Amino acid sequence: MKPHLVRATCMHAPDRHELGIIEDALILIDEQGVISRVLDREAPDYERVVAQARDNDALTEIQPPSFLIPGLVDLHVHAPQWPQLGKALHLPLEDWLQQETFPLESRYSDVAFARSTYHSLVSTLLANGTTTAVYFATIHDESTRVLADTCIGLGQRALVGRVAMDHAEQCPDFYRDESADVALRGTEDLIAYLAAEGQGRVLPAITPRFIPSCTDELLEGLGQLAAQHGCHVQTHCSESDWEHTHVLTRMGCSDTEALHGFGLVSRHSVLAHANFLADSDMDLIVRQGAGVAHCPLSNIYFSDAVFPLRRALEKGMRVGLGTDISGGPSASLFDTCKHTVHSARMLELGVDPGLPASSRGVTDSRVDFVEAFHLATAGGADVLDLPVGSFSAGRCFDALHIDPDADDGGILRFDGLDSQADLLQKTLYGATRRNVAAVWVNGKPVAR
Ligand code: GUN
Ligand code: FE
Repeated sequence: MKPHLVRATCMHAPDRHELGIIEDALILIDEQGVISRVLDREAPDYERVVAQARDNDALTEIQPPSFLIPGLVDLHVHAPQWPQLGKALHLPLEDWLQQETFPLESRYSDVAFARSTYHSLVSTLLANGTTTAVYFATIHDESTRVLADTCIGLGQRALVGRVAMDHAEQCPDFYRDESADVALRGTEDLIAYLAAEGQGRVLPAITPRFIPSCTDELLEGLGQLAAQHGCHVQTHCSESDWEHTHVLTRMGCSDTEALHGFGLVSRHSVLAHANFLADSDMDLIVRQGAGVAHCPLSNIYFSDAVFPLRRALEKGMRVGLGTDISGGPSASLFDTCKHTVHSARMLELGVDPGLPASSRGVTDSRVDFVEAFHLATAGGADVLDLPVGSFSAGRCFDALHIDPDADDGGILRFDGLDSQADLLQKTLYGATRRNVAAVWVNGKPVAR
């Protein structure tokens, strides 16, 4: 790839409370797809650099009202649940898993089924603007490699996990690892495969489904693999009343404490949901530097509570957003941003009109759209320690061209009435894939 330049108005939020707007930014992208410089119009060499790039046919110009934002980072996706998006949400988590989800996931022993489903999923997420996704696959080694290959082929940045689940009481005969050893070998094989094939863009994640699905022997083995390979870990943590209580009863301590005991809570861990955390659990997560995937839409269906996002952020917890496909019935992180704002607002205001306003909610819980935007970009990138999520030198150019005027899109724009920040807010509240006019990962336009 030749070095090239993109000229566009850019919006990003490296800081949680601050929307950065760079009008007519000039972004220089090197051969590796990494941003080498960001110039604003005040830069003394701005005009010279533009002219030179034009002469070299190396300039892409994006005209207002279109603008650029960083690519979106989805910290929690169950890839095999894609055919189930938008259905089967009438059941509580424990029944949904046994009656709907495990039967569906077991079908990925069929590699051809995996190939077509995963292609549909990854191409849709890219079209929706998700440039980085963190995936749970299934217990099937070959289909998990198919998911990784799909991300490699379509150009998405991803973490891919071969799901480990061997507990005979919680996993059905038709969908369970034969033994802890089989799950550990499958996990190690994926780590080796992606070290060779992942191009540094598709990485492995050690993936115990959640404590109820795993024996102590398996959790211990996965903790050892995490220490040995230093790779990412993902799992579910204190998601619902049932799950949280199940772990308390079995382990005599919380999910966070138990996972930590197995060596699974570190700087490289992504804990999904994390709704029922005691203060001591939060402190432990912050101390260990682990991250949380906040999944506001799925929490409505399965979690029995709203994640106390603002409290977690104020404690210094690293947080990003997850769709939790298909527990969350949307494949759009713009939607997830909107639900992040909604759920935090409902936590603050409360939900029972039978109570007086003063005791209806949890004070100081709201977040605004800039915070949600930050979490979906720079926040998620930070959880993964990946150099993406904002426009600055040294970051990979993972970006979206948003066209507010796209035909049949979801953004209503009024000349003279909408500020640049308004356009971003309208994007988070309404953008559809029609408004995502182009997607780059690592400096390259990706197929959509
Ligand atoms: N806990 C264990 N497995 C799952 C899953 O597939 N989805 C959700 N939301 N929670 C889980
Ligand atoms: Fe999940």
